Amino acid sequence: MCGIVGYVGPRPVQQLLLAALARLEYRGYDSAGISILSEAGVESVRAVGNLSALRDAVAQRAPAAVADGGAPVAVADAACGIGHTRWATHGRVSERNAHPHVDTSGRIHVVVNGIVENYVSLTRALCDDGARFSSETDAEVIAHAIARRYDGDLPAAVRAAYGELVGHFAFVAMAADEPGVLVGARRECPLVVGRGDGEQFVASAMPAFLERTRRVQFVEDGELVVLRPGGVEFMSPAGEPIEREVVEIDWDAETAEKAGCESFMLKEIHEQADAVAETIADRVADRDRIDLGDLGAIDDAFLRAARRVVVVACGTSYHAGLIGRYAIERWARVPVEMDIASEYRYRDPVVGPGDLVIGISQSGETADTLAAMRLARARGAKVLAIVNVMGSQATRDADGVLFTRAGLEIGVAATKTFVAQVAAMYLLALRLAELRGTLEPARLSELIGELKLIPHRIAALLERGDAEIRAIAARHRDARFFLYLGRHVGLPVALEGALKLKEISYSATDAYAAGEMKHGPIALLDEATPVVCVATDAPVLYKLISNVQEVRARGAHVIAVATEGNGEIGAHADDVIRVPATDWMLAPLLAIVPLQLLAYHVARLRGLDVDQPRNLAKTVTVE
Ligand code: F6R
Repeated sequence: MCGIVGYVGPRPVQQLLLAALARLEYRGYDSAGISILSEAGVESVRAVGNLSALRDAVAQRAPAAVADGGAPVAVADAACGIGHTRWATHGRVSERNAHPHVDTSGRIHVVVNGIVENYVSLTRALCDDGARFSSETDAEVIAHAIARRYDGDLPAAVRAAYGELVGHFAFVAMAADEPGVLVGARRECPLVVGRGDGEQFVASAMPAFLERTRRVQFVEDGELVVLRPGGVEFMSPAGEPIEREVVEIDWDAETAEKAGCESFMLKEIHEQADAVAETIADRVADRDRIDLGDLGAIDDAFLRAARRVVVVACGTSYHAGLIGRYAIERWARVPVEMDIASEYRYRDPVVGPGDLVIGISQSGETADTLAAMRLARARGAKVLAIVNVMGSQATRDADGVLFTRAGLEIGVAATKTFVAQVAAMYLLALRLAELRGTLEPARLSELIGELKLIPHRIAALLERGDAEIRAIAARHRDARFFLYLGRHVGLPVALEGALKLKEISYSATDAYAAGEMKHGPIALLDEATPVVCVATDAPVLYKLISNVQEVRARGAHVIAVATEGNGEIGAHADDVIRVPATDWMLAPLLAIVPLQLLAYHVARLRGLDVDQPRNLAKTVTVE
């Protein structure tokens, strides 16, 4: 997730872009850059680090910047500009990977958010045509693709290039020969226009320009937009004009930063379709195989021969690992051992050469997980880090890294990073199965196809709204104890649902394997106990239904999460929350969403701060 912004109009562009980027910094802050265009030429400044590094780099060039022909550019004369704040996905954090990216001639500049899935084949074709690439990113290909079609008409060149791109992205382009024109394009990733008087704005999110204008136009999926100081044209990729109403926004800056949601946690729950889409994107571009890219010292030969997998993690990341264990064992037939990192590091584990140890951590800084990874590595195991933050310690301590691409998570309770971790574990399980030949090719491509549909299913689930879940939360807001039950892949979902409720609502919760309930926790049940059951379709569903009957016989209140179209569970539960059907092994990516929302609403109804629950920290760097 990155932040992009563009401005066309009479104001001094440099300060305006820097201020806009500051409002988008929550979308990423490992590097940033701007390109400014005036009649005198084009100037680009990029820097590694957060925005202050870019400000310093800009200040070093003041008072006048140097145009591509060597002539000074008075920044105040600039006609338009684009800016970017980066959350690295493809390519290291470095100045040359920072945006804006530029084509070989230096005339087409672009800022991009998202992923171009077919960048490898496009890059090859463009290089054959004479393009010279200067970064390791997928985004740069857009600048070259536009340049190849450019003959003085930027909107036409962008439309032609847009048709060649596969993936989900939003970008803004400008051409050195056309001051005063910006072209934006959107495929899935967000893009919004701000309408001014003789000036126009475009950005990933409204906070970028809300202090200048509150009149906005939303760019819809699959649309292009051309901005000139005097007006904005919306169009289809074929160039057909599109009418778009101007909406007056009355959000304050804080609400805008949360995209209109009442909290970051709710916003992040709603970003989960994107988090999964970005995490799987190019890795499932080919329906018949998984491409994990470069995993450093963890090569295919090692993955083919590894004798077992060990997963170490804490909290929510541990729950993601648990789901991965079921997938790796079932699909790739490799034994998987799981451990909580704080236990693993002190139990003198039997681990060594031939073992693949996976450390899962959204922050990449959790002290216990890092210690467990280092211990395993010191004993000769190969260590893979599944991490959301580029450049974090875990990425430096591992033999290889598989990045989740959830974007920055601000809410302390992990939501979108969890689904991204689960998606990464599924990718790894499928890759192991592919390399080891443990899945029939037809089954492999069926699972890849289903995984690709998950972002759409999450989006559909969230679009239904959460009134039903809120009503359930209202009925149980005062319950002192909640029990969560699940079986097989439903069990880690129950564990994660219980953790979410516990950490943000301060309710006592327990989560158990449903079959284990009668061995103890059943004693806790009475008429006041809500029991949340993860009852999505699975071969073990009938076993779970027997456990649900045991719960009901004690008078407890059953809230079931079940698959759409399955009539079985209705007769056994007091409340049923439906999630879309998918392959049953992938159902955790859907089933967790209503449980996050349930926890969210219980906490909100109790008047609690969901983004910063008491006693918790986003990154736990002490053991
Ligand atoms: C719960 C939560 C924590 C983290 C845990 C590990 O919502 O966020 O349980 O999952 O502290 O953190 P990372 O993933 O950064 O290692």
